[in-house]
Amino acid sequence: MVQRAQRVRASSADPAARAVRQRNKPFGNITRGTTNPNRLRRVDRWLAGPQAWRLRTEDSPLVVDLGYGGSPATAVELYSRINAVCPSAHVTGIEIEPERVRIAKPLEHGGLDFRVGGFEIPAPGLATMVRAFNVLRQYDEADVRLIWDTVCARLSPHGIFVDGTCDEIGRRSTWVALDRTGPLSLTISLRFGAFELPSDVAERLPKALIHHNVPGEKIHDFLQALDKHWQAGAPLASFGNRQRWMNMCQKMHDDGWPVVRAPSRWRLGELTVAWSAVDPSAAVA
Ligand SMILES: C[S@@+](CC[C@H](N)C(=O)[O-])C[C@H]1O[C@@H](n2cnc3c(N)ncnc32)[C@H](O)[C@@H]1O
Repeated sequence: MVQRAQRVRASSADPAARAVRQRNKPFGNITRGTTNPNRLRRVDRWLAGPQAWRLRTEDSPLVVDLGYGGSPATAVELYSRINAVCPSAHVTGIEIEPERVRIAKPLEHGGLDFRVGGFEIPAPGLATMVRAFNVLRQYDEADVRLIWDTVCARLSPHGIFVDGTCDEIGRRSTWVALDRTGPLSLTISLRFGAFELPSDVAERLPKALIHHNVPGEKIHDFLQALDKHWQAGAPLASFGNRQRWMNMCQKMHDDGWPVVRAPSRWRLGELTVAWSAVDPSAAVA
């Protein structure tokens, strides 16, 4: 079992080598199975909220919980949250560690199943949603693009892949959303009262960004801008942190940051920004 970031097994950009690997074994490594009930509520609320339209583009959409961990609790929760907005959806929990699949099997029913696999996603058909939380953080940054490409190749035309990270009980959460064309956005979602500065979320950034929160990088500029507006909004704290957060989001928008202008989401402690604004592979303008 892996306890620290490591390269994916037989990592290779060569399609032939990849095909052989994908035919033979799950793509990826067994890592720690740490999980907690309800820790993924913030991303689930986003998938079942502003992203739910994607489910309606398919008759029987497939939703994948990739790397559900030592207990299938978050996969069961994903099923109930998705089922509430799309009863025809099927949820498949995929785990690379066979014993974790054996433990989950008794919970299977018509809308939920569990299977052994990796980033190749060994489920029939294309996926409308793939949620991989606290999975890529245990891999090497150099492998992130290959992993993203592998998962995105399994998405339906309107499918979305969320690669995210959160703390133990899900109060601080971030995720990158991708479709078949590549990364679309970064979302941060924080519980009011669980942070002093918005940049406290830096330690929970996805693997693609976490090593880039240093001066001169876009993600650093973004978090610094959030902090600046959060601190300037201190007088609003008497009206509650929600008001202060919404003011910060509006100021980011006013400054020209490509944030999604969605006050109903801001109210939840959430903010989504276009990937181009934080992309570490693109130089700061
Ligand atoms: C830290 S747990 C996260 C559990 C859950 N997603 C959560 O956030 O609470 C990571 C899990 O991902 C699994 N995993 C790692 N790489 C994987 C892969 N390529 N495919 C499927 N599962 C994988 C590990 O075996 C482990 O059980």
